[in-house]
Amino acid sequence: MGMKKAIVIGASSGIGRELAKVLSQNNYIVGLVGRRTELLSELQREIPTKTYTKRIDVARTTEAINLLEELIQEMGGMDVIILSSGVGFINPDLIWEQEKETIDINVSGFVAVANVVFKHFCKQGSGQIVGMSSIAAIRGNCDSPAYNASKAFVSNYLEGLRQKVSKLRLSIAVTDIQPGFVDTAMAKGNGLFWVAPKEKAAWQIFRAIKSKKKHAYITKRWRIIAWLLKIMPDWVYNRL
Ligand SMILES: NC(=O)c1ccc[n+]([C@@H]2O[C@H](COP(=O)([O-])OP(=O)(O)OC[C@H]3O[C@@H](n4cnc5c(N)ncnc54)[C@H](OP(=O)(O)O)[C@@H]3O)[C@@H](O)[C@H]2O)c1
Repeated sequence: MGMKKAIVIGASSGIGRELAKVLSQNNYIVGLVGRRTELLSELQREIPTKTYTKRIDVARTTEAINLLEELIQEMGGMDVIILSSGVGFINPDLIWEQEKETIDINVSGFVAVANVVFKHFCKQGSGQIVGMSSIAAIRGNCDSPAYNASKAFVSNYLEGLRQKVSKLRLSIAVTDIQPGFVDTAMAKGNGLFWVAPKEKAAWQIFRAIKSKKKHAYITKRWRIIAWLLKIMPDWVYNRL
């Protein structure tokens, strides 16, 4: 059997970058995608297994769809895709440009990529889509309404794809990853706690991928916070 192939969207930094390394350590051929090409080339030099890089801005959806199809062709197929690209702003003043950018990247960009991949896996008859949601998906947030809503969208969309897979009796795995705080450029703001090193997060995500989990909290202890957020009445939540 040949080597497995994975594509990481958002491989230039943070969780995606670490995950690309873990995948390569586990003998995957990896396709590295993001906008900052110099960081992608740097990562390519660090990774021992064969890698491909492609500059894709997922917010430019039409172009992104074509470029991703091109990358899949170049790699001669793909078994797993990790959709880690995302932005987040602390935006209490509701600056429209920031809300829009969040929606363009985390929502429109996500769907554009997910659709290409889903159709590819349908044709291929197998595959795995791994989406990067967040604990933020569970409740709305006054300081980052677009970010939290975009992550709720991601989790909900993945559930939709999972139902589609089940109805069509396809053997495609759909994995929803919900990290708490991970030590990357994205983890901003006050009151951060239980911040996980990105290496640890990447390993836990890799294990969830390997066991084709439907869902995983990263790190595992965040299941407690998730549970609390779900049961918390509004009158308590609104005072946090
Ligand atoms: N860190 C946390 O605490 C945390 C918690 C929960 C969920 N998450 C989620 O984890 C994912 C990864 O975030 P991170 O923490 O690793 O932050 P990060 O270091 O900022 O990584 C974000 C990645 O997304 C890519 N990206 C952003 N906009 C893009 C675009 N338009 N087109 C293509 N790629 C784009 C970036 O690459 P370029 O800039 O080079 O394009 C970068 O590789 C995000 O979806 C985030 O919402 C993070």
